[in-house]
Amino acid sequence: MLLDVRNVVKRFPGSDQPVTVLDGVSMSVAAGETVALTGESGSGKSTLLHIIGGLEPCDEGAVIFEGTDLTGLDDAGRASVRRSNISVVFQQFNLIPSLTIEQNLTFQAQLAGVQASADDLAQSLGLQGQLRKYPEELSGGQQQRVAIGRALAAAPKLVLADEPTGNLDETTGSAVFELLVAQARDRATGLLIATHSERLAGLADRRLHLSHGRLTG
Ligand SMILES: Nc1ncnc2c1ncn2[C@@H]1O[C@H](COP(=O)(O)OP(=O)(O)OP(=O)(O)O)[C@@H](O)[C@H]1O
Ligand SMILES: [Mg+2]
Repeated sequence: MLLDVRNVVKRFPGSDQPVTVLDGVSMSVAAGETVALTGESGSGKSTLLHIIGGLEPCDEGAVIFEGTDLTGLDDAGRASVRRSNISVVFQQFNLIPSLTIEQNLTFQAQLAGVQASADDLAQSLGLQGQLRKYPEELSGGQQQRVAIGRALAAAPKLVLADEPTGNLDETTGSAVFELLVAQARDRATGLLIATHSERLAGLADRRLHLSHGRLTG
């Protein structure tokens, strides 16, 4: 299994006692599989993605990536597994404003030691003719395509996407979501994608729903 999450518990400090946001969450993503994660606002989708991505610690449980428990590694060990295997796409596009689109597309791959062709990426993402521009010259939908390209360019085994279309209008958002799912399938990249849209969640191979700290299928 590519990713195995076992009995993850996450508590945040509350006004008088800790609030349990994830209450024994177990799930998996197989190599190349696309899994959609839905749940009401505040149900813990971002928290779960952050824990899987190693951006936040959990209180109990294990996050096993290709047989290695990431929760048992130190920061440097976790960063090393992540750098070459796991990419993240956020709701905010988080492009680097001072870099061109070409540089934004390729720098993460360079950090991971992967050769990436900006021309090929632009072609597959519908960004032809944009490579010499800067992020502020692109529309929101185009910027998110760059963020997706940047994530995929590093040839990760798993992409974690947290409401990647949340800042886009419905039509643009649907197209970007479909592009991400199609690109992940083409590259046999595992994809765990949080969304509020039941319709878009239906495009995934499998769906999970988070409610009251627990997952249901
Ligand atoms: N750093 C934090 N400190 C305290 N509470 C937090 C923290 N991060 C998240 N929470 C709480 O954990 C719960 C889950 O938040 P999370 O952001 O994971 O939800 P979500 O499902 O991603 O919501 P949304 O759909 O609005 O993005 C919320 O009640 C939130 O207030
Ligand atoms: Mg969220």
